[in-house]
Amino acid sequence: MESLPENGKVGTAPGKIILAGEHAVVYGRPAVAVPVWDAVATAVISVQSSASFTMHAHDIQQVINISDGGKADKSGNSEDNPLALAARLALTELDLAYALPSWRIDIHSTIPIASGLGSGAAVSAALIRAIFLQAGQTIDDATLSALIYESEKLHHGTPSGIDNTVVAYGKPVWYIKGNQPIPFQSKASLSILIGDSGVAAPTKESVGDVRLAWQRDPAHYEHLFDQIGEIVAKVRQAIQVGNVEQLGGLFNQNQLLLEELQVSHPKLEQLIRTAREAGALGAKLSGGGRGGNMIALVEPTAEERVKEALLKAGAKRVISTCI
Ligand code: MEV
Repeated sequence: MESLPENGKVGTAPGKIILAGEHAVVYGRPAVAVPVWDAVATAVISVQSSASFTMHAHDIQQVINISDGGKADKSGNSEDNPLALAARLALTELDLAYALPSWRIDIHSTIPIASGLGSGAAVSAALIRAIFLQAGQTIDDATLSALIYESEKLHHGTPSGIDNTVVAYGKPVWYIKGNQPIPFQSKASLSILIGDSGVAAPTKESVGDVRLAWQRDPAHYEHLFDQIGEIVAKVRQAIQVGNVEQLGGLFNQNQLLLEELQVSHPKLEQLIRTAREAGALGAKLSGGGRGGNMIALVEPTAEERVKEALLKAGAKRVISTCI
């Protein structure tokens, strides 16, 4: 990362994993998600001499130049670019959209893209936070979440809102679309390994395909979503009482239903099997699926063994996180 400019404000935001309930959450069922601070997005602002507002998204090799005017509203009247929209929404909130400040914003992220870890939401969150800080303001979590949600719609069409919520609040949350998130704490400490299948999978595609399948056979899909919702309720209870063995079993049950939703992938399934055989209490894909990441719940004593097995089985990288 480049050295920090003098007076440059920095915004950061974590990645996220969904412990249970992805996809069904788009259809009003609950889901449980937690932030992952071991993979973060960062936005650094410096004042530049040229009269322009530019964003340099280094990981995707994009330079985005925003010009004066063009107030962004929440129906998305902005460039067809999630970062441009996020910046415009923040500038509009701050009354800076018509006389843009001469800022350069450098954006970096260690969150793999298109892998179910919420990289799009995290990058928007870091960017909006940095813009508010540089303007001498702070932004509350609910407003931040609402602004990120607008840019999420460009990333994947019909988001449930869970990614922006967990990334903005930075806490484990129980989430139902359209409702206030409920932060929670786990009674037992949960060790989770996040294994990257290396298969890039944009959430937009899997969410779109599930929608098509649901439109073709709503009764069947509603039933699958109900079953997932029931698992999520049990996941919440297991976390609240600290029953990690039960939680592992629930991960496995959720995975079976995600396979029925057709959002799994042979590489994910191979890693999930490997983790279980190496002693994980349970494992499932996390996020949009079709690739991206899987998660495995492990006892601390089994963590190294499972991690090594995942790497040996071809995981591109394994992140350990503790809740
Ligand atoms: C993506 O992280 C989670 C999905 O449920 C989509 C969404 O909730 O918007 C697949």
